[in-house]
Amino acid sequence: MKDLTAVRLRAVSKVYAGSAPIRALENVSLDITAGTLSLFEGPSGSGKTTLLSLIGGLDRPTNGHVTVFGAELGNLPERELVKYRQTQLGFVFQDFKLIDVLTALENVALALRLRGMRRRAALARARLVLEVLGVGSRCDSRPRDLSGGEQQRVAVARALAPQPRLILADEPTANLDSMTGTDVMEALKGVTHHRSTTVIVVSHDARIAPHADRVFRLLDGRLVENLTREAA
Ligand SMILES: Nc1ncnc2c1ncn2[C@@H]1O[C@H](COP(=O)(O)OP(=O)(O)OP(=O)(O)O)[C@@H](O)[C@H]1O
Ligand SMILES: [Mg+2]
Repeated sequence: MKDLTAVRLRAVSKVYAGSAPIRALENVSLDITAGTLSLFEGPSGSGKTTLLSLIGGLDRPTNGHVTVFGAELGNLPERELVKYRQTQLGFVFQDFKLIDVLTALENVALALRLRGMRRRAALARARLVLEVLGVGSRCDSRPRDLSGGEQQRVAVARALAPQPRLILADEPTANLDSMTGTDVMEALKGVTHHRSTTVIVVSHDARIAPHADRVFRLLDGRLVENLTREAA
């Protein structure tokens, strides 16, 4: 595997302004190697979602630098940031953010259509990825008619289907039992092997650590631990 840095954070801090400003991240520096699966864990409010939104270019740091595949996001104009999100990134949101008026199949196919895939090919690929994630029988259902765990797997399918270079997954197994949770982790781990995709997972779920090449621990917005899995 080429030792290419996919994500680099240097002295990153994030303060949410307000009458009582919140220091969500403080002086976080780290490097994530391309083609690996990294796990960020830490208690509620420790800054995990904030970190993902900075790496995903959904928000900007108060201080510090976020560099993804060699491009410093802070230097990109909004138009380029949108392009980065559309072409390089798959995002699994903590609250899914599926589109209510579309079926499960259409939600996944839309992500492919936005990247220029033709309708028939997009629908076929969307169906395949939903099947891999065990929700192939729910293709024609709308999100509100799906269980939380089914919605979660549709959200993972939507992030995986376009084969992005970087996948950011916020609590992707939170609503899943151990069998479906393992299926989702294997799907995420699989793309690091087969396509050298970089995957960053945020989770409280203790079952995820064995799948991770690297585990980072956040506490009150600070990186307190940084463990590399020993070579098997
Ligand atoms: N948009 C926002 N405006 C103001 N404060 C925010 C905002 N987003 C997050 N925060 C605050 O920043 C801190 C870190 O939040 P964050 O969502 O990153 O935590 P988290 O580790 O993802 O927690 P959880 O495990 O509950 O999802 C919290 O104190 C939170 O209340
Ligand atoms: Mg969160």
